[in-house]
Amino acid sequence: MSDLLYFPPSLQRFEPKRMVFSTWVDHLPFAYDLVEAIRPKTVVELGVYNGLSFFTFCQAMVENDIDGVAYAIDCWEGDEHTDAYDDSIFKDVQQHAREHYRGITYLMKMFFHEALRHFEEDSIDLLHIDGLHTYEAVKEDFESWYPKVKPGGIVLFHDVMARIKDFGAWKFFEELEGSHPETFKFNHGFGLGVLRKPGGERPDLPLLNLLFSGDEHNIQKLRQTYVHASHFLEARRQAKRFKELTSGKNKGGQGKQAGGQ
Ligand SMILES: C[S@@+](CC[C@H](N)C(=O)[O-])C[C@H]1O[C@@H](n2cnc3c(N)ncnc32)[C@H](O)[C@@H]1O
Repeated sequence: MSDLLYFPPSLQRFEPKRMVFSTWVDHLPFAYDLVEAIRPKTVVELGVYNGLSFFTFCQAMVENDIDGVAYAIDCWEGDEHTDAYDDSIFKDVQQHAREHYRGITYLMKMFFHEALRHFEEDSIDLLHIDGLHTYEAVKEDFESWYPKVKPGGIVLFHDVMARIKDFGAWKFFEELEGSHPETFKFNHGFGLGVLRKPGGERPDLPLLNLLFSGDEHNIQKLRQTYVHASHFLEARRQAKRFKELTSGKNKGGQGKQAGGQ
């Protein structure tokens, strides 16, 4: 039994710059650490919505001096699972990208299949699939985009533990686990699947070694680490919020409110 020797950078220094409501919240520390580890030149996200996962990839790139570009692809109209939404979501994402990630982000407001022609084969280091979550849609997104991923590149799948409504990412990812040698599944939150495309040179990185070690002890430890990391992030966020609220009171915020009503 080998032991986990890995101290995630996210635990040391990650303070999310973007915090909006999304079930992706449980996987932010891992997203940060993965980018820090693999130093992607090209990141592509299919399904961006309000940008929680996307801007975490971007933040990790900037804070770790990674010279890459991140492409955000979404029709920004919604789908059967998110329901339709208005243009304010896209405008907010656009503003955040301009303010914080000018020059490293491209927002591609279009359908996934329309964006395919803009990418060469074997060109993407990190692909995140988070569009519509039916079995058929996830399968189609994977099969059409997988050729664009570099050998050795990483593909992430959100919602691989969600067994609600007609969600089928879990089923499709189970099939991939059977056919791909290097996969990993985080079970917390709504689940996150990780797959490394065969080929390429496998860099000797602690995080990748742990993800794809196949060692049950390490797998459990890594899963626990990221459950703790997500709780830690939430606790720190609440503490910060509490501090802001209480320091607001001390500055006379309450009096002001009382006076204004
Ligand atoms: C679950 S949300 C993405 C969540 C996001 N990654 C986060 O961090 O919260 C799915 C998004 O995919 C988009 N979408 C679904 N199918 C699409 C398609 N075929 N082409 C373009 N956008 C699509 C929807 O508009 C929606 O905004």
